This record gives sequence, structure tokens and C-alpha cells, in this order.
Amino acid sequence: MADTKVQERVDQLRKEINYHNNRYHVLDDPVVSDSQFDKLVIELKDLETQHPELVTPDSPTQRVGAPPAEGFAQVEHSLPMLSLANAFNYQELEAWYHRVTNLLEGASFDMVCELKIDGLAVALTYQDGRLVQGATRGDGYRGEDVTHNLRTINSIPLSLLEAGPPRLEVRGEVFMSGEAFAKLNKEREAQGEPLYANPRNTAAGSVRQLDPAMTASRNLEIYVYALGYAQENGMPDNQWDTLERLKELGFRISLHNRICRTLGEVEDYYRQWLEERHDLPFQADGVVVKVNSFEYQQQLGVVGREPRWAVAYKFPAEQVVTRLLDIGVNVGRTGSLNPFAILEPVVVGGATVKMATLHNEEDIHRKDIRIGDWVTVERAGEVIPQVIGPVVARRTGKEKVFQMPDRCTVCGTAVVKSPDDAMHRCPNTACPAQFFELLKHFVGKGAMDIDGLGERWSRILIDQGLVEDVADLYYITKEQLLGLERMGDKLATRIMDNIEVSKSRPLSRVLFALGILHIGSEMADLLTQSFHSIDEIAAATEEQLTDVPGIGPKIAASVVTYFGVDNNREVIQKLRAAGVKLEQEAPSGEAADLPLKGKTFCLTGTLSSMSRSKVEAKIKALGGSTSSNVTRKTTYLVVGADPGSKLDAANRLGTETLDEGQLLELLETLGIRA
Ligand code: IVH
Repeated sequence: MADTKVQERVDQLRKEINYHNNRYHVLDDPVVSDSQFDKLVIELKDLETQHPELVTPDSPTQRVGAPPAEGFAQVEHSLPMLSLANAFNYQELEAWYHRVTNLLEGASFDMVCELKIDGLAVALTYQDGRLVQGATRGDGYRGEDVTHNLRTINSIPLSLLEAGPPRLEVRGEVFMSGEAFAKLNKEREAQGEPLYANPRNTAAGSVRQLDPAMTASRNLEIYVYALGYAQENGMPDNQWDTLERLKELGFRISLHNRICRTLGEVEDYYRQWLEERHDLPFQADGVVVKVNSFEYQQQLGVVGREPRWAVAYKFPAEQVVTRLLDIGVNVGRTGSLNPFAILEPVVVGGATVKMATLHNEEDIHRKDIRIGDWVTVERAGEVIPQVIGPVVARRTGKEKVFQMPDRCTVCGTAVVKSPDDAMHRCPNTACPAQFFELLKHFVGKGAMDIDGLGERWSRILIDQGLVEDVADLYYITKEQLLGLERMGDKLATRIMDNIEVSKSRPLSRVLFALGILHIGSEMADLLTQSFHSIDEIAAATEEQLTDVPGIGPKIAASVVTYFGVDNNREVIQKLRAAGVKLEQEAPSGEAADLPLKGKTFCLTGTLSSMSRSKVEAKIKALGGSTSSNVTRKTTYLVVGADPGSKLDAANRLGTETLDEGQLLELLETLGIRA
């Protein structure tokens, strides 16, 4: 195809893909099948691969990019992101309405009612129709630049469907649907990872990931609810029409918004959703009532951070009273003794509840919760509800004060309680409860993934004394397996094969599999990006660990503690002796000869000819690596315009520097060779 023809086809495909993306993710009304849509994307991807110069940042193929090299930058909001005053009952709503009526000197006004979605507020900025920045609310004045992550949300348009204001900032709520949340937790459970507590925090955590691929996997969504700023306005003069206009531009607007003329209509809307809120695919914690006219909004103004023209009419938290039948104690993988409430089953927040969290002993006593009490249980979207407190008036005198067992409920070891830890813990790392949980985790999907060795066989292997630590798995013989009741030759062969295969899992999986406190798969990935063997990690100091972007002091301390325990080091030795790979994948045969092998680059400042991610990709393709900090291991610091403090660090350490021209020259010469 001639170049202009290619460009035309690329433009055409992008337009079509954007249109169908909007129909599917924004309007929830697709007009083509998934496979027809996929075909368009595949064709565009092919053309972009053949003609990389035609790739633009707003191409629908470019939702998932590289992580920002320097963490999140701060963003100043063009106009502060306000919060809302609350009304907790009808009287408070009425008071708000009367205040507005008085301030507007009796003029009549319409209101727009919207559901208050419990997610996180973001501001999206479009320049000439293209998404150029996405930011979190932060403290309302300054937030974090999370553009790279927000771009991955399919219901956020990368470019507007029609021409709009040259510069446009819209605001909305990013959230995770109940369905996506349940699916994520199910996967985590299967992988032996701790469950997330509620969709709101999970959505917020997902937006603040460094790696956009991680955010992309979380299936976040958005509803846009306000115009932040529009240059050369041309936008409507009220909330309702603005939302309609934003919808035309390609934004996702809630279908449940309603225009109300009287307070009675607002109350009807509220009551309807109070009843039906559990049928919504997201969590709504109230109704936002806004004065429709922007002129009136201006006139009403803002007090502090709260506009007078809007109010959040909150739904009451869902509470219910039931009997606390007993308090059980679980021993977790980290040895913590976790008390939990065994309840008379009751429906709350749309689900039947039989159990609730009781945090720890001190919390139980502070709230004076006793076994046999009638207790108030609250579910605010959490998976596991909370016990709020006892209904003291209903006590009979037969209730029993709870006491934490002084011995581990599983292995009988004396429990320890240190003053700086809220939890009681079983100190025996060989405690079967801990070890069973650990073994389950170790063989699980995201870890060593030893198919065939599920929960049941893990239990049996422990009970039969065949494994006492995770490394023992690699010393089991087929004969031993065949000696177990109900173990057939086929399964034994499969297990043995899978154990063998698991020896070459990537380092990050092994690290995650060890079950080190606070080291989930994401942290394990981060650590193995900077350290290339278990020995390097084991030898690292807390300072060296916290140098890794994303690794905080708590995690660093946990790693150091883990490798400080003799038993744990022995397990590592046993794993090594059994042939488990404890080093990072060695570069493959051809990669080993790449010209930048062993060279580490660090970038500072802005480059004018290429994006940072492109430079990094080129360096990696030539066998080099990149780091976000200048250390002794850094070979070159690449210095762009407005360099940061890394240049000082390089000067201090005597690191060689390259300017943009030198870098390009280097890459080009090597690129030709490679
Ligand atoms: S309007 C002044 N509309 O609630 C207007 N906010 O407490 C400020 N929220 O930070 C926001 N749904 O994160 C507005 N339909 C909606 C909303 C909504 C959820 C959140 C938003 C804001 C918080 C205010």
C-alpha cells in the first residue's frame, strides 16, 4: 500500500474502533460482534507494526504503555476538586434546600439527582480532543498524575468523538464493579493471595499501580459527572445539558441521573435507590443533588471546600442486629490468631451473613463484645462485615467475656503477644496451620503452580509426615506417593512431573511462593526487577531494598527478617540442592551477545526526539537494562532537558553521562549492528 493509503486506512480504522469502543464500553450498546471488533483491532495493529512511524499516543492500540520511570508526578488542578456537604436524613436535606431557596431569593430552580458512586474522583484533561492528562483528586488542589493508568480504562475516551473545546477538563468517578471485584478475589483465592476487602480501595489501589498492565487487568470503569474546565466554552449553561454534551463527546454518563423540580421528587429518587441500590453493578453510598443552572451555582458559591449548590444525601450504612453465637479463632499463614464472629445467619446489604471480622482481642474488649450478645453488624460494601458493638440492653447476664487462647489452637505452642503488634501470634513457623496455609500457597497457581497437589493432598502430605517444609516436596519419591491411600499411578506420575516442571519457575514466582509476610506477587515482581537471584535479595539491606521503587520500609523489614531466620535459609539451601532455579532467567543464546549487555542506563529530564518508554524499549532490545535511580551499577546517565537530582547523584558517583545526541548516536550505531 502506498504511504498515504496506509495513513488513510489507519485513520479510518481508528475512527471505527473508537466508535465501537464507545458503543460497547460507554453506551453499553454494541452494534458489532466481538469478533468483528477484534478484526479491526488486528488490522490496525498489523499496520502499526509494519509502519511504526504511524503509531500515535491516542491510537486505540496504545492503551497500555510503559510505567512512568519516576513514579507519580504531582498535578495542580486547574480548579480545586471540591468535596460535598452531607445530609444524613430528610430534615438535613430540607435545610439545604431552604438555604438555597433563600440565597436565590425565592427563584425557582431545577435540581439534577445523580447516584453517588463510591470510587475515586479523577480529572481528565483533553487538549485538542486528545487525552493528555489524568489525575487523582489528591487533597483537592494537587493530585497525582496517573495518566498512564487511566488510559487503560476502556470507558475513558483517548480522543473525543466530536470536536469540543480546545482544552477540556472533565471529572468523574473511577470504580470497580461488584462483578469485577468478585472475579478478582476469586482469582486471588485460587492463587492463595490475600483477598481485597472492598471494591473502592481496590479501585483506588489499581489506579495507583506503577505498572499500567496491572491496572488494565483490573477492569475499572468510569462515570463522568462534571465539567471541570472548558476553554472557549461553547458548552451548555447547566449541569443536565452539560452531561448530555459530554455524552456526545464520548464520555460515559450514568443512565440513572434524573432532573427534579421539587424536593418531593428528590426524595422519591432517593427512596427508589435506597431500595434498589443492591441491584446496581457498583456501590452507591448516596444521592448527589445539584442545582442545575450554572448561573445559580455561581451565585450560591462555595464555603470552604464545599459548594452550597450541591449536597450528598447519604444512604444509611446497612446495619442489622443478630446473635453472636460464638467467637472462633483462625490461625493465619503468618501465625496470627484471628478471632471471628460466628453469627446467627442474617441478611444485610443484600447478602446472608454468618460470620464477621473481629480484628483482635483488644478490639473485642474495647467494644465490650461478649459471646451470646445481640450485636449490631454493619456491611459497607466489604466482603466480610464488621461487628459494630453489643446491644447492651438485651443482655441476660449469661453472656461470656472472650479470652484469647494462650496456646495456638492448632499446634498448642504458647502464643506470643508483643506490645507493638495488635495480633496474638503463634511463633512456631512449623505450626501445621501456618505450614498448611504456606504449602497450599506454595503449590498454588500464581506461585509454583504444582498442578495435582491441591488443598487435599497438601493436607495428606503433611499429616503423613512426608513434608515438613516446602523444600521437602522436591525430595518426595514416587514410591512414597504411591504408598498414600487413594493415590493412583497416573496421579502420582502427574504430580512428580509437575514438581519437576516447577523447578524452573521464574524467580519472582519462587519469591512469592515462599510466603514472606507482605510479599505478594506484585512486590515479588518489583524485587526481581532489581535483584537477580534469591541470594542477592537475601543479602540486601533494608536500605538497598527500599531503593527499589515501590518497596517501602515495612516490606524491606519483612524481607530482611525472613532471610535472617536460620530455618528459612535452610529451606532455600534445600531448594537449591534439589535443583529449583533461584536465579533470574539467563539471557537466551542470542541475547547474550547483544551489544548493550551488562550496561545499565538511567534517564533524567525530558528527551525531545523520543518518549522515555521508547528509549527504554530500545535499550532493552539491545540487551541493556534501565533503572530509575543512579547507583554504582549505573553505566550511563542519559541527561535530557531540565534534568533532576539524578544528575547530582551521577556527578557524585562519577557516572558517565550522555546527552540526547550522544544517546541517539549510540543507539543508531548499535541498532544497525544488532
Ligand atoms: S460532584 C462539588 N457527583 O463524591 C462537586 N461527586 O464528596 C463535587 N462522587 O470527590 C463532586 N459520585 O469522588 C459528584 N455524581 C457525583 C458523584 C460524586 C461520586 C464523589 C466524588 C467527590 C465526592 C464528594
